[in-house]
Amino acid sequence: MKRLFFAILAVGLLASEASFAEDDHSKMHDMMMKQGSAQPDDRIELKLPATMKAMQKNMMRMHLDTISEITAALATNDLQKAAAVSKDKLGWSPAEEQRCAKVGEMTGEKDFVSLGKAVHMKADELSAAAKAGNRDKALEHLASLIKNCNSCHAKFRH
Ligand code: HEC
Repeated sequence: MKRLFFAILAVGLLASEASFAEDDHSKMHDMMMKQGSAQPDDRIELKLPATMKAMQKNMMRMHLDTISEITAALATNDLQKAAAVSKDKLGWSPAEEQRCAKVGEMTGEKDFVSLGKAVHMKADELSAAAKAGNRDKALEHLASLIKNCNSCHAKFRH
């Protein structure tokens, strides 16, 4: 009797869990349909060792922080700071070139380098506009820069 009771309880629990899962699933599905993202992810996978992927993502999060710093400096009209941060942390340099080229080499994806370079060159343009005191132009470059970030995200994934 006791056994039967537990068996029924277990079946009941499983059933309710299954219906929760189904609810979650259909909610998630609705949400994804609304956002128009219920398509397969057919971006190119970058074939990199796990440690390289972790390093790259760490660098990416630093880039996002840099974007925040630049935005904050432009917001407070601290154009010299925006110019310096953009140039020093995101500008094109031999070190950036080496990093981007390394990933391009390891994955055989040449576009990785050109997409990366576009971001860094835009950071230099942003820096020059801010340095010249042109905040409107610097903001325009910032918008293009973020678009350049996402051009790569649209093409490649881990
Ligand atoms: C040349 C390619 C490329 C460029 C340019 C690029 N990214 Fe990425 N980014 C990637 C890839 C690849 C991933 C990993 C995506 C994945 O996990 O599938 C990534 C992931 C990220 C992530 C997620 C990090 C995490 O912890 O999961 C952030 C945030 C990010 N990028 C920010 C940026 C910003 C900001 C810029 C521009 C300043 C930028 N990225 C430019 C390729 C790029």
